[in-house]
Amino acid sequence: MKKGRIFSGARPTGRQHIGNYLGALQNWVRLQDEYDCIYCAVDIHALTSMTDTSQLQGNIQEMVLDWLAIGLDPKKCILFVQSHVPEVAELNTLLGMITPLSWLLRVPTFKEKVKLQPENVNYGLVGYPVLMASDIVLYKATVVPVGEDQLPHLELTREIARRFNSLFGDTFPEPQAKLTRYPLVIGLDGKSKMSKQAGNDIEIALSPEETIEKIKTAYTDPARRYRSEPGHPDKCNVYKLMGYFDSTKTGDVAEKCRKAEIGCVECKMLLAEVINAALKPIREKRAELAADPKYIAEVLADGAERARVIARETMVEVRKNMRLI
Ligand code: AMP
Ligand code: TRP
Repeated sequence: MKKGRIFSGARPTGRQHIGNYLGALQNWVRLQDEYDCIYCAVDIHALTSMTDTSQLQGNIQEMVLDWLAIGLDPKKCILFVQSHVPEVAELNTLLGMITPLSWLLRVPTFKEKVKLQPENVNYGLVGYPVLMASDIVLYKATVVPVGEDQLPHLELTREIARRFNSLFGDTFPEPQAKLTRYPLVIGLDGKSKMSKQAGNDIEIALSPEETIEKIKTAYTDPARRYRSEPGHPDKCNVYKLMGYFDSTKTGDVAEKCRKAEIGCVECKMLLAEVINAALKPIREKRAELAADPKYIAEVLADGAERARVIARETMVEVRKNMRLI
């Protein structure tokens, strides 16, 4: 007997990075046995920041390859593409009617996007959290494993669900976020959230050599200017990242760093080693899976079919409760 239903999603912007992995995906894998899990490539959400869709199908493929390689098992969970279950668009329209615009204009991610893409502040961008709420409540999920940046969206999802229930009768559960031990991974610039857009990320699928090259660009302790100066591991993002992957090394490294017995270049090489060792089995599995692109298409088609059964059922209830039928 499973504990309940989980839903989560990620935008198909391409390969997943270690921020996605540490902040959310590790929980996706871990929770597969305990919960009834649904994971979605949210292609419609991706369109809020994308007008050139030439890479979209390739991005979905790459992202799902990462998901399967880290251990998501289509026998245990549903994996599908958001637009393959069009019921979500109908629910999005309906929930849009009960969501005050003032709630949406307050959302921090909307304000950030306005700054990031001033030339493309589209209607869908304002409605991003309504579509996300639709994703979650369409499947009546109670638990949503995400990174910390998604907490405001989850709060809004609960508010929308509550409002719907009070207007039209009890229909949706109020979902709770589930965070990992590392809910906010800082990127190689040492200051902002790791993301593809910021270019400060390490993709899971990099080769060991590419990983080394990328880590060479990382910022370390900003207060340590010379190799001979003692460092401050607690202020160093490279040190932090190392701990996320292998905490057995960090005690020794911290001591040597504080005594200036180890330099930042050596430390970065150590980080690359630790990451390459941790990701080796995932990368190997990914290479095997990549040899059969048809497999992913089959997994996603089967996932959409299974997801749609649940979505159709919820929509009948929604239409009835709203007196649309
Ligand atoms: P995205 O790629 O932005 O669609 O994110 C997919 C999932 O990864 C979401 O649950 C995010 O909260 C999570 N995530 C993305 N970037 C990070 C990060 N730098 N640290 C922790 N979690 C992250
Ligand atoms: N907004 C999420 C992100 O950027 C992606 C997402 C869309 C999502 N719908 C969701 C996450 C539903 C969890 C549940 O990462």
